[in-house]
Amino acid sequence: MAPKYSSKASTCPVSTLFLSISIIFALLLSLFLLSSNHTSKSTSPLSCLMSTIANSNSINVYVSDLPRSLNYGLLDKYWSLSHDSRLGSDIDNQIRLANSWNNINNNSVPIYPESPLIKQYSAEYWLLGDLITPPELRSGSFAKRVSAPEQADVIFVPFFATLSAELQLGTAKGVFRKKVGNEDYVRQREVLDFVKGSEAWKRSGGRDHVFVLTDPVAMFHVREEIAPAVLLVVDFGGWYKIDSKASSDGKNASDMIQHTQVSLLKDVIVPYTHLLPKLHLSEDQKRQTLLYFKGAKHRHRGGMVREKLWDLLTNEPGVTMEEGFPNATGKEQSIKGMRSSEFCLHPAGDTPTSCRLFDAIQSLCIPVIISDNIELPFEGTIDYTEFSVFVAVSEALQPNWLVNHLRSYTDVQKSKFRQNMARVQSFFEFDNGYPGGIGPVPVDGAVNHIWRKVHEKLGMIKEAIVREKRKPPNVSVPRRCHCT
Ligand SMILES: *[C@@H]1O[C@H](CO)[C@@H](O)[C@H](O)[C@H]1NC(C)=O
Ligand SMILES: *[C@@H]1O[C@H](CO)[C@@H](O)[C@H](O)[C@H]1NC(C)=O
Ligand SMILES: *[C@@H]1O[C@H](CO)[C@@H](O)[C@H](O)[C@H]1NC(C)=O
Ligand SMILES: *[C@@H]1O[C@H](CO)[C@@H](O)[C@H](O)[C@H]1NC(C)=O
Repeated sequence: MAPKYSSKASTCPVSTLFLSISIIFALLLSLFLLSSNHTSKSTSPLSCLMSTIANSNSINVYVSDLPRSLNYGLLDKYWSLSHDSRLGSDIDNQIRLANSWNNINNNSVPIYPESPLIKQYSAEYWLLGDLITPPELRSGSFAKRVSAPEQADVIFVPFFATLSAELQLGTAKGVFRKKVGNEDYVRQREVLDFVKGSEAWKRSGGRDHVFVLTDPVAMFHVREEIAPAVLLVVDFGGWYKIDSKASSDGKNASDMIQHTQVSLLKDVIVPYTHLLPKLHLSEDQKRQTLLYFKGAKHRHRGGMVREKLWDLLTNEPGVTMEEGFPNATGKEQSIKGMRSSEFCLHPAGDTPTSCRLFDAIQSLCIPVIISDNIELPFEGTIDYTEFSVFVAVSEALQPNWLVNHLRSYTDVQKSKFRQNMARVQSFFEFDNGYPGGIGPVPVDGAVNHIWRKVHEKLGMIKEAIVREKRKPPNVSVPRRCHCT
């Protein structure tokens, strides 16, 4: 089969660009008539342009054949726990009592936890739900499922790594960072032994494998081994740590890599799952307060800024700062707060991002992002400056600076921000409204946008595989990710 990602594309004669509109229309028409796999290797300008267009419509995905115990089986296990005493788990304990976690008659796909601490990381569930949907319902899916690894652009590894970590944290937290007696580690090992034994991994060194690691502690013990793969993460928090020795002398406060390399070049930032319902632009009402924040005041690392901001802002007129609970009361409080405020504060927490940002967007509350190291999903497709305010930590910590800055925005500017925000709300929606996510996905939803981003990496992945292959066996070159 011809390579899906033709390197010929860049060698198209310049004249291609000047094809008349009518020829382009003819091409588009022929695209519908031809099978998408039919990619001619001929270098004529016509096929060259055509393959470029065809290639951006889909990505071929092979789903690695992991046992059910490593994905949906973990949900069975989660729901069969007698009780979970962690904060935020009340709602799941109620679901256990009502025995209502099997939302599909034949028990194949249980619901994902509702506990906000786990639900925010549910990308793994929705991505797999799309892939196991019967083919006839998947015409709107960007990922085309193929039945053999040889036909695939990438291999999706359907391990619910977040759930595996959370199960361990919920049952025996003490051994989480150890290997002995740690079921999460046993599962991580099982996944790695399975994929590394496959021909597909041996061919690519894992570079074309896709893992979902939304929880910053997911797959903690095998990060070095999956480093070459495409990692779907919510940000790079937890992957770096400040080099305390270098930063204490005040000179090199650069981040030092902790576990292994992550990079925007190969990895994809995915959204947290929002926890608050969507507010439509047409339902938006006059907002009474200037700035809203709810959350824990105390946080570690980058989150120190939170505590300082809290002290600076707490008595400002027009500013609402609330400590919240991870339960129904807290949720109502957030809905009210985010819908009645012009701006919503998004300071760094334990990591540079949190699901709060995506709740603000669904609530049409203009995000004020105070997190110097933040990485955001779908950048390039989305320009966050069209609906968010970015403020340097150093500026935000000057007395009165932030509130004066926010007051300087006019009603017209704020209204424009909200209109722009309404246009991207759907990008952050994982839930397609079908149980288990098994059904058609919205064309502009999070699942498709994630696969579009993975698709953007394909050229680089293929290049890395080819370069690796030509190295003589005795040559060892340290792994490098480029700085962006
Ligand atoms: C049961 O699960 C299979 C997939 O494992 C699915 O094809 C089928 O539609 C499901 N049946 C019902 C009644 O939901
Ligand atoms: C600090 O940074 C400089 C310039 O980037 C580099 O030459 C030096 O080796 C670094 N020092 C340490 C302790 O990493
Ligand atoms: C949520 O938690 C708070 C603090 O523990 C409590 O006062 C409140 O009643 C709880 N709300 C619900 C609906 O459980
Ligand atoms: C080169 O690699 C081969 C096989 O991996 C090994 O047997 C050999 O000793 C190596 N030679 C050197 C000079 O390291």
